[in-house]
Amino acid sequence: MTDIVVVGSGFFGLTVAERLAEQYGAKVMIIDRRPHLGGNAYSEPEPETGIEVHTYGTHLFHTSNERVWEYVNRFTDFTPYVHRVYTTHKGEVFPMPINLGTINQFFRSAYGPEQAKALIREQAAELGGKEPENLDEQGVNLIGRPLYEAFIKGYTAKQWQTDPKDLPASIISRLPVRYTYDNRYFNDTYEGLPVDGYAAWLERMADHPNIEVRLSTDFFDTTQPINKDAIVGKIPVVYTGPVDRYFDYSQGALSWRTIDFEQEVLPIGDFQGTGVMNYADEDAPYTRILEFRHLHPERDYPTDKTVVVKEYSRFAEEGDEPYYPVNTPEDREKLTAYRELMSGEKDVFFGGRLGTYQYLDMHMAIGSALSMVDNKLAPLFGGAAEEP
Ligand code: FDA
Repeated sequence: MTDIVVVGSGFFGLTVAERLAEQYGAKVMIIDRRPHLGGNAYSEPEPETGIEVHTYGTHLFHTSNERVWEYVNRFTDFTPYVHRVYTTHKGEVFPMPINLGTINQFFRSAYGPEQAKALIREQAAELGGKEPENLDEQGVNLIGRPLYEAFIKGYTAKQWQTDPKDLPASIISRLPVRYTYDNRYFNDTYEGLPVDGYAAWLERMADHPNIEVRLSTDFFDTTQPINKDAIVGKIPVVYTGPVDRYFDYSQGALSWRTIDFEQEVLPIGDFQGTGVMNYADEDAPYTRILEFRHLHPERDYPTDKTVVVKEYSRFAEEGDEPYYPVNTPEDREKLTAYRELMSGEKDVFFGGRLGTYQYLDMHMAIGSALSMVDNKLAPLFGGAAEEP
C-alpha cells in the first residue's frame, strides 16, 4: 500500500521520498518517465573510456547551507575538487569569472586592485548616466565596453540566439568582477564531487525498504496505473514535472532554453587541460566544451583517450528537454495563473525546478525539498509542521 506518490526522481523528489520513508515511515512510490533515476544530475561512465560523463551537462556540487551539507554527506563522500572556468577569446585563453588576472592579461597591464577599479569605473561611465535600454547597454554600463564586448556579448548572443541589443537590460542586473586573482568559480563554504559518482549517490538515496521506484513511467500515461487521472485526490502526490504540462498547458506553455550536447571520444589523453572551457566569440557556434576527465583527477582514467562534449544553447521546442527558464514577462504572467491553479489542487505538492519554473542548483533543490517535508508533508504522516 503506497502512502504518497513522488513524480520525478531528481534531487527534489529523491530528498522528499528519502525523508518521508526514513523519518516518518511512509511508504513512497517514485515514478520517473526516464529510464534512469536522478533527474538531470544523472551520470554514467562513457563505455569506451570509463570516464564519468554527466549526461545533462556538468554538475558541480557546492553549498553554504549547513543542513544540506550534513544531509548529502549521509549518502556520499566528496572529493576536494574546486571548480575553475576559462574562456577562449580571439585565440587567447583567459581566467573566468573576470578577475584581476583577466583584466591584466586583457589590457596587457600590471594594475593593482585600485587602478583596475578606476579603469573599469571610467569605462563603465560611457553612457554618462543614461538608463540602459537593452542588454548591450547594460553590459557596457556594468563593466565597460572592452570587457563586455570581449567576454559577455558574443557568449550572451549565442545563449539567447538573439543580438543583445534586442534583449531586455533586465536579464543581467550585475556582472561580477573580482579585483583579486581568485578565480575559484563558486564562493560557497563546501564544494566537491561525489567520490563514487552521481549515480551511486542518487541510488543510495532511493535505497530504502519503504521506497519503490518505477522508471520509464509517465505520470500522464493513462495506460499505466500510477497516472494523474487515477490517483490525484485519492493519494497525496509530490509533483516535480513541468507545471504547465500538469495543467495541460491551459494557461499557455512556459518557455525554456535547452542545450544540445555533442559528445566525442578523442584519441588523446588530454584535450584542453581543464573541465570547462567557454567560447566567448560568435565564430565558435558552441558556448563551451566540457572535458569530463578533469573533474576527477584522482581517478585512474586511460591516458590515451578523453571524452569531450560541445554545448549548443537554443530555445526549447516541443519535445526538447527544458533546462533554463526563459522567464519573459509573459512567462511570469502565465506562472501567476498556474500558481492560482496549483493552490486549488488538493494534496498535490508542486516542487523542484520544473514544478515551480525556476532555475535551482542541486543544493537549492535539496534544501527546498527538506523545507517542504518539514512544513507541508510531515503533518500528513503524524509530524508537526515547523514554523516557516
Ligand atoms: P530534475 O529535472 O533533476 O528532475 C525532475 C524529474 O522529473 C526528471 O527526472 C524527469 O524525468 C521527471 N519527470 C518530468 N515529467 C515527468 C512525468 N510526466 N512523469 C514522470 N516523471 C517526470 N546544479 C548545481 O548545483 N551545479 C551544477 O553544476 C549544475 N549544472 C547544471 C547544468 C545544466 C545543463 C542544468 C540544466 C542544470 C544544472 N544544475 C546544476 C541544476 C540541477 O540539475 C538541478 O538542481 C536539479 O536537476 C534539480 O532537481 P529537480 O529534482 O528539481 O529536477
